[in-house]
Amino acid sequence: MDARPSTRPDRRTFAIISHPDAGKTTLTEKLLLFGGAIHAAGEVKARGAARRARSDWMKIEQQRGISVTSSVMTFERDGLTFNLLDTPGHEDFSEDTYRTLTAVDSAVMVIDAARGIEAQTRKLFEVCRLRSVPIITFINKVDREGREPFSLLDEIADQLALDVAPMNWPVGMGGMFEGLYDLEGQRLMRPAADGTAAFEGDVTAVSGLDDPRLAAAISADALARLTEETELAGAGYAAFDAEAYRHGDLTPVYFGSALKDFGVAELIDALARFAPSPRPQPADPAPVSPDDQAVTGFIFKVQANMNPMHRDRVAFMRLCSGRFRRGMKLTQVGTGKAISVHSPILFFARERETAEEAWPGDIIGIPNHGTLRVGDTLTDGAPRVITGLPNFAPELLRRVALKDPTKTKQLRKALDDLAEEGIIQVFYPEIGSQWVVGVVGQLQLEVLVSRLEVEYKVDARLEASPWDTARWIAGSEADLKSFAEFHRGGLARDRDDALVFMAKDAWEVNYVAGRYPAIRFSATRERA
Ligand code: G4P
Repeated sequence: MDARPSTRPDRRTFAIISHPDAGKTTLTEKLLLFGGAIHAAGEVKARGAARRARSDWMKIEQQRGISVTSSVMTFERDGLTFNLLDTPGHEDFSEDTYRTLTAVDSAVMVIDAARGIEAQTRKLFEVCRLRSVPIITFINKVDREGREPFSLLDEIADQLALDVAPMNWPVGMGGMFEGLYDLEGQRLMRPAADGTAAFEGDVTAVSGLDDPRLAAAISADALARLTEETELAGAGYAAFDAEAYRHGDLTPVYFGSALKDFGVAELIDALARFAPSPRPQPADPAPVSPDDQAVTGFIFKVQANMNPMHRDRVAFMRLCSGRFRRGMKLTQVGTGKAISVHSPILFFARERETAEEAWPGDIIGIPNHGTLRVGDTLTDGAPRVITGLPNFAPELLRRVALKDPTKTKQLRKALDDLAEEGIIQVFYPEIGSQWVVGVVGQLQLEVLVSRLEVEYKVDARLEASPWDTARWIAGSEADLKSFAEFHRGGLARDRDDALVFMAKDAWEVNYVAGRYPAIRFSATRERA
């Protein structure tokens, strides 16, 4: 075994959360351009277009092929490696998105300056909050007419219950946009005179708002307004506090334009300076520290490969500790199976073939035939189980009806497989023979039907069910028994045999939960 270097290379492993159209693809592209990982605008954009296609199986298929390689994008700047984990771009929500967020140490929240916080931003934010994932906010599209900075900042503070710390301030917006003022570094960044995107732009360092260089650079109106607004902002909002940010209580806010390269360099600098290095991962019996010698990681995503006939899968492992080397043998905690990782996909290497090792914060793609499941812990040390990968309460429940009843066995296998990949959740009701699938977004149902047919040759129909949501329930045997007497019709087991109560809606859940205070109803279930 080679000696471990005294210092492990540092990483920033993060995701971008946003509502569709806020500019995630554009920003991703700019981050990769700045980091030298791609060389021309348009490379990520093309993927974005494919990703947004819906209801077309071929396109979903193509997109899955592409996303194996684009699931993790890596770039470097100032000697630091950034791992950007992609979250699917379609409007529908999938558990995949949620789970990806369990594999990051921080997130960038992109908001459209004209629209403010939108539905999906809020949902993704809630997932980050569950795990106290620190968030840097990027208010995008300041080159277009947008809302007042104060209105945007107040909305973030009020709706997300976060302290906001503006780090820069737009000097006008839209047609009146004259640049960005860096509140900390006291610099003015101006757009290129010809209106083109210009990487680091034209930067003037000033000694303060009364510096004559500022007055010479922007209009008198803009300067008066900037002075007034930043004064108000200084009094009204929190100053940046790295501790509060890392606890997820405060978000530094950058105004910018991904399209015009404004604020992008500052955003990367902020990630480098403030975003946390790989954090210790909660685990049983003890947390896994990135400095532990043993290699430990967990699977947060399983993706079927392009060739559906071979059922090849790539399991994505987030490395939490140790120094991973190609060819290592890791043990799947729980089953005790040894997994030899001969041909890992090491995303962080620009030259794929030369990548031989990975460090905490890196993502490793492990090709396998369905042995690895989302939530699995792999280690070469003492068995430990990384916790915190939740199953989420579904928002749509459908009964699965088989057209050919002799295919029951194939259907069960298919549902279990697809549940393993996180495409669906599957519930086996205590009464009745029809199985139920649960999803959080419609797209997951479309993918399910297509894949049942194409990969498993199972012709199935999804039918309405009396329920639309479910909660995992727990309690003493006696309490559960008396609960079951009255509610057996709504009881089911998930694929790990955990008890689930299916209900018509959240109102019914609340009503029933109120009548059985001794029983715990939870919207998420952590895999043991
Ligand atoms: P998404 O991945 O979050 O869905 O958003 P995406 O980057 O695809 O951006 C959505 C639209 O917003 C695109 O326009 C994109 O060009 C535009 N956009 C992104 N950032 C900025 C910005 O800083 N300023 C301005 N003015 N526009 C921005 P589109 O018309 O849908 O696509 P395209 O025809 O321009 O490619």
